[in-house]
Amino acid sequence: MKRRPLAIVRDPAGVRDLVGGARRKGRSIGFVPTMGALHEGHMSLVRLGLERTSYMVVSIFVNPKQFGPREDYGRYPRDEEGDLALLEEAGCDLLFAPSERDLYSRDDRTRVSVGMLDEFLCGASRPGHFDGVALIVAKLFNIVRPDEAYFGQKDAQQAVIIQRMAADLDFPVRIVIGPTVREEDGLAMSSRNAYLSAGERTRAVALYEALMEAEAAVRGGEMTPEAVKRIMVARLTRSELDIDYAEVVDAATLRPVAAIEGLVLFAVAARLGRTRLIDNIVLRVAPEGVEEARLEFPEWSRYGWKA
Ligand code: PAJ
Repeated sequence: MKRRPLAIVRDPAGVRDLVGGARRKGRSIGFVPTMGALHEGHMSLVRLGLERTSYMVVSIFVNPKQFGPREDYGRYPRDEEGDLALLEEAGCDLLFAPSERDLYSRDDRTRVSVGMLDEFLCGASRPGHFDGVALIVAKLFNIVRPDEAYFGQKDAQQAVIIQRMAADLDFPVRIVIGPTVREEDGLAMSSRNAYLSAGERTRAVALYEALMEAEAAVRGGEMTPEAVKRIMVARLTRSELDIDYAEVVDAATLRPVAAIEGLVLFAVAARLGRTRLIDNIVLRVAPEGVEEARLEFPEWSRYGWKA
C-alpha cells in the first residue's frame, strides 16, 4: 500500500481539519505527544500506534510550563529535521509542531492538577511539573481528539497521572502504555542522554543496574521496601550518582508500600552533573512468584474497553 505523505501542521485549526477528515473516512486516530529529539523510545510508541490505529498523529512541542525555573528548558535538545526524517520513514500521517504562541495565550488561567499522584517521586522534586504536563496533554487531546494515545512506561508517574486525568475528565481516549526501550547496556533511552559526557554515560547505567539488583533481591525473597531501597541507593552511590530518590511504591497509587506485594513500581532518579535521569521497573509480586509486569489501568472497564 502506498503511504500517504507526512503532513506538517503548526496551528490547532489545521490539525482539527485534517484529523476530522481522516475520521470521516472511517479512520481511527492514534496519538503520541512528544517534546522531540526523537529516539527509539518515541518511535516504538509510534509503531505501536501504527499497528493499532489507521491515522497516526505525533506532536512535538517543548512545553515551557512543565519545566521549573532552574531546569533545562533553554537547552532542551531540538532536532526538527532529524525528527521529520524518522516520522516520515515510520509512516506517520501528521506531525503537529506548534509554536508557543499557537498553544498558549498570555492570559491563560486554567490549571490542570491531578491530586495526590504528584506528591511523591518526581512530583516531590519538580513542583508544578505534572500540572504543566497535565495541562498540555489535556490541550493536545482536545486539539487532536485521538481514539488512543501512547505513553512510555519510562515516565511511569506521568503515564499514571495522564490516565487518571483522562478518566476523571471523561476524555474519550484510551491510554496505552509502551514498554521502556533501552540502550544495549540497559540505560533507558531519553532525549536527555545527549547531555551526558562520555564518563557520565558510562556511570549512567547504574540506574538500570540498581533496578536489576532490586529485582534480584525481590526474587531472592526480600520483601521489605527499606532493604530494597538500600540496595538501590548503594548501587547508585557506588557510581557516584547524586540521588534524587530510590523508591518502592504501589504501581496504582504511587504511594510507598509497607510490604512488597501486588503490582509494585521500583523507581529511581539521579543526577549526573547537570543531567537528571529517571528509570523504573514494575514487578508483580505474589506468593506464587515474582514476574516482570506493566502498569495497568483498571479504569478501562468503565468505558467498556478491554486491555
Ligand atoms: P518526551 O520526553 O519527549 O516523551 C514522549 C513520550 O515518549 C512519553 O510518553 C515518554 O514516556 C516516551 N518515552 C521516552 N523515552 C522512552 C523510552 N526509552 N522508552 C519508551 N518510551 C519512552 O514525556 C514527554 O515528552 C512530555 O512530558 C509530554 C508527554 C510530551 C508532554 O509535554
